[in-house]
Amino acid sequence: MTDFYAVIGNPIEHSKSPVIHHAFAQLTHQDIQYERVLAPLDAFNETVHDLISHGFKGANVTVPFKLEAFAIANRLTERAQDAGAVNTLIFDAEGIIGDNTDGVGLVRDITQNIGVAFAGKRVLLIGAGGASEGVLHPILAEHPALLIITNRTLDKALNMVKRVEARDEMLFVSINAYAFDDLHGQQFDIVINATSAGLTDSHLPLPTGIFAPNALAYDMMYGRITPFMAFALDHGATVFGGLGMLIEQAAEAFSLWRGVRPPTAPVIEMFKQQAKA
Ligand code: ATR
Repeated sequence: MTDFYAVIGNPIEHSKSPVIHHAFAQLTHQDIQYERVLAPLDAFNETVHDLISHGFKGANVTVPFKLEAFAIANRLTERAQDAGAVNTLIFDAEGIIGDNTDGVGLVRDITQNIGVAFAGKRVLLIGAGGASEGVLHPILAEHPALLIITNRTLDKALNMVKRVEARDEMLFVSINAYAFDDLHGQQFDIVINATSAGLTDSHLPLPTGIFAPNALAYDMMYGRITPFMAFALDHGATVFGGLGMLIEQAAEAFSLWRGVRPPTAPVIEMFKQQAKA
């Protein structure tokens, strides 16, 4: 019997999720159908309940509904609570489970696909919006030596640091928030752009010397060379976009729904070939 899943967003027509999940299903011999669902901006709840009444087993949630998905879930995983947002819903007999697979997707792409470990590294996270919040705890769990959050609006970065420090746990990670200007003289091994600046082709006012030798620069945006990526290339970093993160977060959702972990390398390769064509 075919099981049905969806990705809910607004807009949604450009989502690559159906192609990714159908590729996973083929690779793992799972009988699923995965659809794009456009939810009206004021009707996310109705859209979710409509899917449930039609027998759907789960859904991914994308912009701008990740906070509403967090609110609609009856049960939240720890990583959804940490992120304060939900990108994966599981519908079962007891209701709606909300999870967040974005952070683990980023960490897996960097550690397993790219092959760079966070442990002991100096990490710069740029941005303090939803995308940044979603990856903060999974990065900390990898035990970098230092994590600096920088943001145009410094208060938001400071608040993220305060919330981490308020948690009653030993992190062994030195964490701080700096304004862009205060990054002069600092060098980082891993620099992650979690801002939406690339969407508008905006340049980030980063000092030129922030990349340590052999640094990795990662932009969570995919499908284009952002000004951040061009800047990092110019200053000697190894540069990656967020395609691998997109595919890894999908793989984690697929594993939760199906109990089978799909291979991601062939799907990443498929998208890279399509981009070249
Ligand atoms: P998302 O869910 O994609 O993180 P968001 O919550 O609106 O979206 O956050 C957008 C992030 O990109 C913020 O960190 C924002 O900085 P501010 O907090 O100062 O607004 C950052 N951002 C967007 N455009 C930017 C630009 N042109 N320069 C620098 N930062 C930018």
